[in-house]
Amino acid sequence: MNVRKSSSFFAPLLRGRAGVSEAFSFSTSPFLILLLFALSLSASAQGLRDVFAPDVLVGVALNQWQTNGQDGRTTAIVRRHFNCITPENVMKSGPLQPVEGQFNFRQADEVVEYAEANGQQVIGHCLVWHSQAPSWFFKDDAGKPVSAEVLRERIRRHITTVVSRYRGRVHGWDVVNEAIEDDGSFRRSPLYNILGEDFIEVAFRAAHEADPDAELYYNDYSMSLPRKREAVCRLVRRLKERGVRIDAVGMQSHLSLHHPDLREYETTMDSLAAAGVKVMVTELDVSVLPSPWGFNGADVAQNFDYQKAMNPYTEGLPDSISARFEQRYLDLFRIYRRHRNQLSRITFWGLSDAQSWLNGFPIKGRTDYPLLWDRDYQAKPVLQRIMQLKDED
Ligand code: XIL
Repeated sequence: MNVRKSSSFFAPLLRGRAGVSEAFSFSTSPFLILLLFALSLSASAQGLRDVFAPDVLVGVALNQWQTNGQDGRTTAIVRRHFNCITPENVMKSGPLQPVEGQFNFRQADEVVEYAEANGQQVIGHCLVWHSQAPSWFFKDDAGKPVSAEVLRERIRRHITTVVSRYRGRVHGWDVVNEAIEDDGSFRRSPLYNILGEDFIEVAFRAAHEADPDAELYYNDYSMSLPRKREAVCRLVRRLKERGVRIDAVGMQSHLSLHHPDLREYETTMDSLAAAGVKVMVTELDVSVLPSPWGFNGADVAQNFDYQKAMNPYTEGLPDSISARFEQRYLDLFRIYRRHRNQLSRITFWGLSDAQSWLNGFPIKGRTDYPLLWDRDYQAKPVLQRIMQLKDED
């Protein structure tokens, strides 16, 4: 039963309030209030999160100006549609520990307080990543790479300090971000160059020790690529064999209208589930802009020069592209519904198009339209259609 039907069901009773019976008043009858409550429980989705409740969390990445309590527009949408928040930047190691041993928790604390005030879970993003790490992390005083022992200790200290601070208040952590290349090899980052693949186990073990109840995740982009998918599944199996806790793998899901092939995307979900972890969609957005790679990557180190031809929709989105955007989101959400037993979370990488990182990546100064709320924080029509998917089965 949908909401519209329920209000027309009550219309005669509400009309009758004045003329027929004061005693059967809407405002005073506990019976009616109970009935309304029961109906609202059985109604169609009231918010995005209801499309998957209670098993799959639905979240959004927010920036510090959205979680400092000043942005009423964001808060109203967040409370209705989402049940978890990922800080887009402030829990990365650079902002948290800009100088060795000096932690700056102010903005991360603000996110956690904001989430708690609004009934949201917090997802910690991210403990170990070669990007947005402080410059001192991998180097000694002379600027040379540190020894394996020093790096191991730095990883442990960072994780222990951060995870213990939020023990019991962060639902789960992206422990390691982006350790595998698209071809399935380990990324030759300073982490790998100094510690080999051991850095991954060191990080997961430290996180588990600091908060044994927190969920722990591995997170990466372009997970539909077969060799990357297989390498991540191998990594999961190896960690599990060695008794390391890993609850889920995040498929970042920075997608476009054309990439990836959604059959490959589904295969990745099945493969991860078969490897023994939950699947999460952790950074969902759908770019409508041309890609300088010809596919969709998310390596934040890559940037391309601005060209006008790569920024075609500065005056608004043509209807034909909006229609494809809508279809792409519906296709994705039908997949998520079908795979909901494998999934534990779906998080959008931003709330409104105005905020999306894709306006600046991989080319600065573009106008992209990747999210479900437009630049004025108005919901796009596809939002309602996604919410109606709940009625399809
Ligand atoms: C991005 C943020 O959205 C930007 O604001 C920041 O400038 C760079 O990082 N993969 C990740 C995210 O795991 O942390 C990245 O977030 C996007 C790609």
